[in-house]
Amino acid sequence: MYTLPIEAFKSIETPFYYYDMDLLRDTLNIYNSHLNKHNYVAHYAVKANAEKPIMDEIRKAGFGVDCVSGNEVKLAIKYGFSPDKIVYAGVGKSDKEIKAALKAGIYAFNCESVEEIKVIGELAKSMGKVAHISIRVNPDIDAHTHKYISTGKKEDKFGISPWMFEDVLNVIQTSNHLELIGLHFHIGSQITELGVFKTLCQRVEDLQKWFLDRDVLVESLDLGGGLGVDYVDPVGNPIAKFDEYFDIISKNLIVRPGQSVHFEPGRAIVAQCGTLISRVLYVKKGKGIKFAILDAGMNDLIRPALYHAHHKIDNLTSTGRKLRYDVVGPVCESSDFWDKKIVLPETNRGDLIAIRSAGAYGQVMGMRYNQRDLAKAYYSDDLKK
Ligand code: LLP
Repeated sequence: MYTLPIEAFKSIETPFYYYDMDLLRDTLNIYNSHLNKHNYVAHYAVKANAEKPIMDEIRKAGFGVDCVSGNEVKLAIKYGFSPDKIVYAGVGKSDKEIKAALKAGIYAFNCESVEEIKVIGELAKSMGKVAHISIRVNPDIDAHTHKYISTGKKEDKFGISPWMFEDVLNVIQTSNHLELIGLHFHIGSQITELGVFKTLCQRVEDLQKWFLDRDVLVESLDLGGGLGVDYVDPVGNPIAKFDEYFDIISKNLIVRPGQSVHFEPGRAIVAQCGTLISRVLYVKKGKGIKFAILDAGMNDLIRPALYHAHHKIDNLTSTGRKLRYDVVGPVCESSDFWDKKIVLPETNRGDLIAIRSAGAYGQVMGMRYNQRDLAKAYYSDDLKK
């Protein structure tokens, strides 16, 4: 259904990112239908992909944004997102970043330590503002995902552990420049065991009770992002399991009158609409294996090298007999490989290769290691013209 315009690719210099904007719009529509059904609110996690055309579609779909740096806040405002739909997390917000966010009037600071909350209070006081604080809770839940993208265990650096709540509440309630508006949770990314979200909802309720016992009803419950996508069969499953996800949340999260429920999806919105397109430079004979050497490397998409992440590789232009290859990049690092011993149709120099599910944490994590150029982006809306 969401096919790649292979003919158009033939005249474009590789490697490049290609975004299927129809898939993005369909994903947003389906996500929105769930939000509308339950009256939930979404803040797109800018860190997943900050390309303007992508952010424009997301803004048009009515989403706010979740930012993790002052520059993300700045960019979102520049791209037309309303400050009152911005939430801002991060364990290390600098004074400069906090001041800019206070000036902009964002919806909430998702705060990760009592030390940070104190600083926000002081800065808000010096500016004559009141900062909206949402406590990013570390709920000590195992998200059953890669350890580098798990964020909700007590040993992770993120969030505030429940044993600190007393201190936190005290700091907020004794300041005229801090207002507690919510509880925030984000336990990890690429979560595919959806039962984890049921555990999260139960934990949210337990932790809320602590506040209710002290007569505090927070207005906002933010469950973060984390829903995984299908990296193994992205063509067969281009849309994440939103049905199951929202079913679990709506059945298990207790929402009290006056409360709003927020989400911060990143990957599940943009991963599948993006593909990294590359050309085969050489097919080199190795011992018992052939290396297909691509012109796209770890600097273009670092996920396999950094997390051993799997991205499906397809040869778009060969229909030859099936052979086995180690598919590698050109960067001078042994970790710069795409996949090992995978079956592809007979592959030759010049063939076009698709590295799928590259829309999230792909281009945005691109770097210029080896002085390589950053890959450009092309969008289906433009290529069709
Ligand atoms: N909210 C917060 C506070 C986050 O830290 C993140 C992601 C999200 C929302 C969005 O999570 P998502 O829906 O995308 O799972 N670079 C890694 C992923 C890092 C995720 C960081 N935080 C990767 O390539 O897998």
